[in-house]
Amino acid sequence: MSDSTSPDLTALRLNYTRGELRRADLNPDPLGQFQGWLEEALRDKLREPYALSLATVGASGRPSVRTVLLRGADERGLTFYTNYDSRKGRDLAANPQAEVLFHWAEHERQVRAYGPVTRVSKEESTAYFHARPYQSQLAAHASDPQSAPVENRAALEQKFAELCGRYPEGSPVPKPGFWGGYRVEVREWEFWQGRRNRMHDRFRYTREGEGWRTERLMP
Ligand SMILES: Cc1cc2nc3c(=O)[nH]c(=O)nc-3n(C[C@H](O)[C@H](O)[C@H](O)COP(=O)(O)O)c2cc1C
Repeated sequence: MSDSTSPDLTALRLNYTRGELRRADLNPDPLGQFQGWLEEALRDKLREPYALSLATVGASGRPSVRTVLLRGADERGLTFYTNYDSRKGRDLAANPQAEVLFHWAEHERQVRAYGPVTRVSKEESTAYFHARPYQSQLAAHASDPQSAPVENRAALEQKFAELCGRYPEGSPVPKPGFWGGYRVEVREWEFWQGRRNRMHDRFRYTREGEGWRTERLMP
């Protein structure tokens, strides 16, 4: 059913033809596979290909999902920064595991990664905090507690202006204690490449001892 305000979504579909993923193409190391796909996305200037959906589940069992920016991908895991008192922070305190998702639509690719989540060291968070622009540092202070209701935009702007007065540009802005990084220590990866007729290529890597087991999955 459709009416004038709701487009008929059932008629909208793309056939995915951009690429293929064969077992022989897979990097034996999933981090290398991920980095290769991310580099292709950056090279082709996709918009924020380092943005990911982060899914968490809190103590009540209710799932929640939001976008964050990837700030590091290495053998230790996938790192992002946020407010520890935010909803995601509270979820992760109660249930320290997450699944993350990258969707690179122009490349017809999707990557999922699952694993336990730990906080990055205070030193690492502090170093990254000070590498951010001055305004972003103030905004981290202003948004406290992140995800709590705020009366209106003016209240938010006033808080920002007060912080500008307290920490003039050029003076050091201390990292708030409630702000820092998390790292997803990936135990399972899945790489998805769209194919014609919905016959997509999917490979899952599962941690096994020091190595990785790979399996092709039904589309
Ligand atoms: C493109 C994009 C990038 C974002 N990057 C971050 C980020 O790196 N860290 C962060 O805390 N929030 C980021 N956000 C905002 C979050 O999606 C979210 O609104 C906020 O963190 C509060 O989430 P929560 O209430 O689930 O904790 C980003 C949003 C978008 C759309």
